[in-house]
Amino acid sequence: MNQEMDLDKIELYSAPPAEEPARQYYFMAKCREWVKKFISKNGRCPTACVTTFGCQMNARDSEKLEGILKKVGYETVSSEEADFVIFNTCTVRDNANQRVYGRLGELKGYKRRNPSMKIALCGCMMQEPSVIEKIRTSYPFVDLIFGTHNIYKFAELLCASFEAEGMLIDIWKDTDRIVEDLPVQRKYAFKSGINIMFGCNNFCSYCIVPYVRGRERSREPEDILREIRGLAADGVVEVMLLGQNVNSYGRNLKNPMTFAELLREVEKIEGLQRIRFMTSHPKDLSDDLIRVMKESRKICRHLHLPLQSGSDRILKQMNRRYTKEQYVDLALKIRREIPDIAITTDIIVGFPGETPEDLEETIDVVRTVKFDNAFTFIYSRRTGTPAAAMENQVPESQVKTGFDKLLKVVQDTAREQAAKYEGSVCEALIEEVNEESSRAEDTSRQMLVTGRLSNNMIVHVPGDASLVGKVVRVSLDECKGFYYLGTIRE
Ligand code: SAH
Ligand code: SF4
Ligand code: F3S
Repeated sequence: MNQEMDLDKIELYSAPPAEEPARQYYFMAKCREWVKKFISKNGRCPTACVTTFGCQMNARDSEKLEGILKKVGYETVSSEEADFVIFNTCTVRDNANQRVYGRLGELKGYKRRNPSMKIALCGCMMQEPSVIEKIRTSYPFVDLIFGTHNIYKFAELLCASFEAEGMLIDIWKDTDRIVEDLPVQRKYAFKSGINIMFGCNNFCSYCIVPYVRGRERSREPEDILREIRGLAADGVVEVMLLGQNVNSYGRNLKNPMTFAELLREVEKIEGLQRIRFMTSHPKDLSDDLIRVMKESRKICRHLHLPLQSGSDRILKQMNRRYTKEQYVDLALKIRREIPDIAITTDIIVGFPGETPEDLEETIDVVRTVKFDNAFTFIYSRRTGTPAAAMENQVPESQVKTGFDKLLKVVQDTAREQAAKYEGSVCEALIEEVNEESSRAEDTSRQMLVTGRLSNNMIVHVPGDASLVGKVVRVSLDECKGFYYLGTIRE
């Protein structure tokens, strides 16, 4: 795991060290002094709530924020009526932004009741100057704002905000830094996300991620492997390797290494049972990766391979750098090589200039590849991206009809794919007690637990909390469309 520092050994009377992560541990020790004062004044620990919007990358960042908050003495809670609330935001589509503004309105009411409450905002949305301007003018009760590049400085910023009057804003345009060994508070004891790289260099024309997450940077393989070994020793059985485009992992390292080579090393880690990764860009997916997946006992039978569109014209406009034929050939090759694999995808409907004929091309790919699941999104115009400046934006009404049509095909194919496995026996990692069954007042109803199959499908089986975190064999008795009802076969 991480090589964390002991806060008790930090000398607070000397100046903060310049090097990282020692500097951040110094500020954690300082924050802890503040927390101790809070406890003696109020007779209780201060509470903190971290709310996450967006993708797995943000979820992982939130675990790092919680790790620091816990280290300095906060009690982390799920209610936003807390002493410290931080929103880790997403800006990939406009509805993500609107949700943040809505929730900020609610926080205003809480802060009126608890004036010493502190509100912080971080994450991708904060990298947009127009957002900062809006918060400054319309949400002046926010105390601290920082971005994606300086998130490792959270302890230092928290400390500064205890001492500051008014809103503290610290946003960096970019960074080439990766700071290791900061504390992390995992959401699950038995599984964990691991960043293997940050940022993105692809500049798909609709996408804001490269602007808010900066240039692609890979972590050193030794740092990744050391972290995973530590996690495995701590009881983690499944890891999800995270990056915007994992297939280009390692290109910018001093000693370049491919993603397939990294996977081979991760496979060797004892105690680890399952390996997942997100996301793969089709243009960079190598035959070597297919081989590694095929030969592996630990890499899960699931590949998320975003298509975005099936029309060559639109793909070109999107700057995706593959054609419909290349995508289909790749997906079918993977299905041939690894027959039990599930392929899932992302699709955007309503990209500028998209016609019903273009959408038919996309639907054709869905039918040919038979996606096991697909996330379908309505195109959202992101300021500053090349697509936002395109003149032929598609009217919402036209998009909606096409979207519904696509969704129906996606659901039909997904159902068809799921039904294939009905009656078979396979391994599932039990992740949680099924909330509905544990709430059921009718005690004659069985308690269910929820497991995840290697192919990422969900199965509910009778069982109790003692199974959580275990990999068990289950029979998939009944397919319910997008999940199964099953029984444990031991
Ligand atoms: N790096 C990943 C995806 C990150 S964003 C990849 O390249 O696959 C997740 C998904 O959001 C994308 O796959 C895309 O389908 C969708 N998305 C990104 N920008 C969007 C936009 N402007 N409007 C609608 N959907 C968008
Ligand atoms: Fe966005 Fe494309 Fe990068 Fe994915 S690969 S994050 S869609 S620019
Ligand atoms: Fe959203 Fe940022 Fe992830 S924009 S999708 S949280 S990288």
